[in-house]
Amino acid sequence: MKILVVGNGGRECSVASALLLSPKVTRLYITPANFGICDPFGRGRVRLQDIPADDIDSLLAFAQEEGINLTFVGPEAPLAAGIVNTFRDQGLRIVGPDREAARLEAEKSYAKDFMRRYGIPTAASEAFTDFSEASRFLEQVKYPTVIKADGLAAGKGVVICETLEFARETLEQMMVEDVFKGAGKKILIEQYITGPEISFFCFYDGKTAVMMPPASDYKRLKDADKGPNTGGMGCMCPSPYATPKLVDEFKQKILAPFMDGCTKEQLDYRGIVYFGTMATPQGMMLLEFNVRFGDPETQALLPLLQDDLVDILVAVESGKLDRAKCDFSNEAAVTIVMASANYPYGSSPPAEIEGLGRIDQINDADEPYPNGTIYRRLPRVSVCYAGVSKSRIFEPETQPGEGVAGAVARALHPGGERDVFIATGGRVLSVTARGRDLSEARRLAYEAVGNIRFTGAHFRTDIALLK
Ligand code: GLY
Repeated sequence: MKILVVGNGGRECSVASALLLSPKVTRLYITPANFGICDPFGRGRVRLQDIPADDIDSLLAFAQEEGINLTFVGPEAPLAAGIVNTFRDQGLRIVGPDREAARLEAEKSYAKDFMRRYGIPTAASEAFTDFSEASRFLEQVKYPTVIKADGLAAGKGVVICETLEFARETLEQMMVEDVFKGAGKKILIEQYITGPEISFFCFYDGKTAVMMPPASDYKRLKDADKGPNTGGMGCMCPSPYATPKLVDEFKQKILAPFMDGCTKEQLDYRGIVYFGTMATPQGMMLLEFNVRFGDPETQALLPLLQDDLVDILVAVESGKLDRAKCDFSNEAAVTIVMASANYPYGSSPPAEIEGLGRIDQINDADEPYPNGTIYRRLPRVSVCYAGVSKSRIFEPETQPGEGVAGAVARALHPGGERDVFIATGGRVLSVTARGRDLSEARRLAYEAVGNIRFTGAHFRTDIALLK
């Protein structure tokens, strides 16, 4: 099969790496390019493209020209813009919700109404399109309160407001200054709830949902949940907060009514569903739907998958998920994000990444591939790139003088061209390790992170550190 992966962040790097474990893949295209993807069997199946993830017409033309058999879409924006409708109209197979179903993430007020219609527990909220009405409402609510942009805002559209003054500023920025370019013209003012957050993911084909192990990500920049919100600085899977009782509550109060709602509303949803939940003192509540995999949750989830991701995605797309094998191991995985100097505030100067070779050494010293079987697992330590580019640099030969010392030095450092990976900004890369439990995975993940260096790199040191 020729497979196209749309999107080039850490999440898509992880999906592509898992797909490449399948012997069914003859070629895997990823667009835009992600330099972290390599063929684990050395068969040269990877092709990097440069079509933007939101250029649906060009993606369609490419998929048709290349005879792509299956497309997987990582980010929410092309799903919300209807890439699934466009591809299916042309008879192409693609995994993801169609435009209508993607509104569950793309329009928060639509999602809230859906939750209310199907009795899914969620925080109380009011939607506003009028700035004066919203401002008056802010005077009646309890603080902290939450203001959410209704549309897609690249993970920045949810703001916790401690005071009325800050809430007013936030409202002004979203509704008047239009910082989210239309996404904040409609907003929700929502009750602030507290409790551990658990991300539940399912493969869903419109009839059958297969749950993946629950995960928890770390959204704040700094240790002890200090600093600004980010796209996610790390993750642990399974989430220690997801007790069997809570998992059961999730299935009954959130998953079952979600599936019921999709059936009743005839949504064409064949993809990944991400339920952002919170275990509050009043019970489990749904914070949001996302219609895609999470980042960095995917990087922790997929190393635990024991079956063939290609088979699973084909089953999702063709509505036959009930027949697919879809087991996850009962090990644990921990992901640590290494971010660039100025993340999340602004851009950072490019910096060479060193020490990546050490990760191969850690893996080489690890479990061998089982004899005679197709190895379907990602390695114990995997690195996913997000803000990374590749350059070829020329290094002159060392000039150490003559004699034996000179000959040895030249042999060790002969000069010539070599590839270097450059951190270009944002959440540059993520390092994931698998272990028998969270503490083993955590130890190995931090050992690996300790080997990778680039100027300005920073990461949290308390991922999966359990009290
Ligand atoms: N980890 C949060 C997200 O992917 O939205």
